[in-house]
Amino acid sequence: MKLAIAKEIAAGERRVALVPDAVAKLVKQGVEVLVEAGAGAKSFFSDLAYEEAGARVVADTATLWGEADVVVKIGELQESEVHQLPEGGVFIGFLNPLGNPALVQRLADRQITAFSMEMIPRTSRAQSMDALSSQANVAGYKAVLIAAAALPKYFPMLTTAAGTIRPAKVLVMGVGVAGLQAIATARRLGAVVEAFDIRPETKEQVQSLGAKFIDVELKEETVAAGGYAKELSEAAKEHTRQVLTQHVGASDAVITTAQVPGRKAPILVTREMVAQMKPGAIIVDLAAEQGGNCECTEAGKDVEWNGVNVIGPINLPGTMPVHASETYSKNISSLLQLMLKDQELNLNFEDDIIAGSCVARDGEISNQRVRDALAAQASAVS
Ligand code: NAI
Repeated sequence: MKLAIAKEIAAGERRVALVPDAVAKLVKQGVEVLVEAGAGAKSFFSDLAYEEAGARVVADTATLWGEADVVVKIGELQESEVHQLPEGGVFIGFLNPLGNPALVQRLADRQITAFSMEMIPRTSRAQSMDALSSQANVAGYKAVLIAAAALPKYFPMLTTAAGTIRPAKVLVMGVGVAGLQAIATARRLGAVVEAFDIRPETKEQVQSLGAKFIDVELKEETVAAGGYAKELSEAAKEHTRQVLTQHVGASDAVITTAQVPGRKAPILVTREMVAQMKPGAIIVDLAAEQGGNCECTEAGKDVEWNGVNVIGPINLPGTMPVHASETYSKNISSLLQLMLKDQELNLNFEDDIIAGSCVARDGEISNQRVRDALAAQASAVS
């Protein structure tokens, strides 16, 4: 089997899908690995390191994609890359299949068997393949560092000869993987942390990290299949905002991470709430690319709103490419172990991880949620 590691083309993308250590293990198993020249350069893995691991470095993009049985990527597959995939080939990577189901349809039209890392089931058996988690961990960590660097204050409490400094107050909204890492990082820096999520089980997780959970009584089901959050009713959203207003106003830094898969991110921080924040306060909105959790967020920009700095970073994992690539590489390698038998690709669609992450197969979209997303987009257009 020939496996190709594509060089990422999106602006600002510094990660690579497989690192040399992982390549060496695959080569030992009899897999022929091709890597595009310079694919690891921005994450500090040289072509030479790939060669030493047993990969063949290929300078020409078309040759690399054209020769491969399987192509792996980390940055979301771009429209311009679809035609480079050989018909009947296999693709593994992020595809944003619920946000961009039309791309999955195009892959199906080219008879490509496509596996979406977003669709790996969130089960214990699949934990080592959970790329949403490995990358969200980086984002949660980096979000706090951005907030700490931008805040015109210390994070920790300090007692010095020049006076006593009170610790910064940090509020984390949305306590999935990124939110939990944000809480842990802010705590390590000495901040006093409060957090909120609509999934009730997060209360204990928040408290175990030494943060205070903000209880908002919601009289509706908030958890959907797979443990993800459900979109709240308008009344529940309004109630949530009312409870949170005072907490937002008292915070020095607010980190928002709330997402509902396949939907626009919920607005948790309104303009009115921002107006009540202290000048110099910071908001870091990790949902910026999905529309933002704050009404003032502009994706990819820092905007000032009544003295409050609203930061909407995009692709934070791409800003920490060494560990983001290493952990993703581990995710991909673990998935490949399920797909390989005697050096060859052996896709067992009876396996819940293989079946669950496959979004296109035999010329069709193979996942019902992706089909529904495509139908919803088509009906919105007509
Ligand atoms: P996510 O990125 O989809 O969303 C982030 C957080 O936003 C979630 O905690 C969600 O509950 C919250 N949220 C959504 N709407 C909200 C609102 N209106 N107000 C406040 N918060 C809101 O979440 P992530 O990190 O991908 O985790 C999703 C689920 O997967 C969680 O249940 C998590 O525990 C589970 N999980 C399971 C794993 C496993 O068993 N192997 C591994 C990782 C995650």
